[in-house]
Amino acid sequence: MSNHLRLGIAGLGTVGAALVRMVQEKEEMLTTRCGQAIAITGVNARSKNKDRGIDVSSAKWFDDPVALAKSDDIDVYVELMGGDGDPAYSSVKAALESGKHVVTANKALLAKHGVELAEMAEQNGLLLNYEAAVAGGIPIIKVMRESLTANSVTRVFGILNGTCNYILTRMEDDGLSFETCLKDAQDLGFAEADPTFDIEGNDTAHKLSILASLAFGTRIAPDAIYLEGITKITIEDIEAARELGYRIKLLGVATKTSSGVESRVHPAMVPLGSAIAEIGGVTNAVSIEADTVGSLMMSGPGAGGDATASAVAGDICDIAKSKPGHQHGPALGQPAHSLLPHERSQMRAHEGGYFIRLTVQDKPGTMASIATRMAEQDISLESIVQRKPKSKSGGENTQAPIILVTHETTEQAIKAALEGVSSDGRLIGEAQMIRIEKLS
Ligand SMILES: NC(=O)c1ccc[n+]([C@@H]2O[C@H](COP(=O)([O-])OP(=O)(O)OC[C@H]3O[C@@H](n4cnc5c(N)ncnc54)[C@H](OP(=O)(O)O)[C@@H]3O)[C@@H](O)[C@H]2O)c1
Repeated sequence: MSNHLRLGIAGLGTVGAALVRMVQEKEEMLTTRCGQAIAITGVNARSKNKDRGIDVSSAKWFDDPVALAKSDDIDVYVELMGGDGDPAYSSVKAALESGKHVVTANKALLAKHGVELAEMAEQNGLLLNYEAAVAGGIPIIKVMRESLTANSVTRVFGILNGTCNYILTRMEDDGLSFETCLKDAQDLGFAEADPTFDIEGNDTAHKLSILASLAFGTRIAPDAIYLEGITKITIEDIEAARELGYRIKLLGVATKTSSGVESRVHPAMVPLGSAIAEIGGVTNAVSIEADTVGSLMMSGPGAGGDATASAVAGDICDIAKSKPGHQHGPALGQPAHSLLPHERSQMRAHEGGYFIRLTVQDKPGTMASIATRMAEQDISLESIVQRKPKSKSGGENTQAPIILVTHETTEQAIKAALEGVSSDGRLIGEAQMIRIEKLS
């Protein structure tokens, strides 16, 4: 290594350009804090001539990120392109094979190939840092990987997608539909043109899979996560939640249970006034429950060029401060070969309270039939409220909205009870079922 730490940055978009600006504008401070100067010696993006509002003329341009990753002109390969395939995957591998430390913000890559890449980094005595991959600017990886070493984590959960949290916050604050709020999020640049990955929960699942691995010492297993997005949440659900003392949030939750790790992403009711319920807009939050420290929560910006680049810069500085030849901490908090298989606890075994919203025909005996179906499954009800019936056409065919809140039960029991209600032929449309998250 020269007396400069030489960076090769692949990807000069939102995060990459913000990082270049940060490294240049904070040069003196970073040199003092990192113990050596940070220099950008190589860069790559798709289009060489795009105006990015940054000056990278002193760095060598590479058309190919793999060539940049292998280049003798760099010490650290900073992958900021995104995507779980090539060129992100091949270039990170090439960097680790040719002795370069790696910093990435790419949760999709880590969710799919994280264990393999962590193993490569360990074998080659290199650092693989990825603070920005989960919850953007919140330094949660460092906390879980380093600060909580003496803790057995029992649950990690959080709001890990700013787009979904923005939409749900707007729906509640302004009484607007999901579709209107999604459109606003897109207009404001909080949501992609194709928002599927965010609103269906996949992005949250990628991040949760990394947190679950760090929390429980298990291999990263994004496919073992139960997934439900926010597209079916209506303004009626949000209003009913508020009346009952709850707020709806898209949560990623990983819990250690007697039958394995229960990992799930879905809209959840959290009590009004709880810390997690107060996280509004695009803000993210991660909460950890562990035996030694108790519970702690961190919140902050989960996305945005500067906030994300801040986490990337912290990772770079950690590399600058690491001593050549010394054993580096494993990327996933423990040696990759010692990670346990991810034993998945099935969703049907999930225990908790449930909010259920049904639209039924307003006929005598309907309430009794619902109560019977619940009783058959040993489900006790905390409350059952029938709203004022809505007349569809001149007083005929009236529909009645019913809201149930159950005490703790299992997912299997709730599903069976709702099937029973449906088979009784009184249900109009589908039942809405939202899990109530128990907070300690
Ligand atoms: N944006 C955030 O708030 C945020 C937060 C947390 C984590 N992240 C993660 O950070 C990474 C970068 O995100 P971003 O928002 O900065 O993305 P972005 O704005 O879309 O920028 C991507 C950059 O990568 C370049 N690129 C894409 N495909 C390439 C290829 N095949 N070969 C070479 N260069 C390629 C693009 O080049 P051109 O500019 O020439 O098209 C662009 O400069 C992703 O992994 C993302 O998940 C982002």
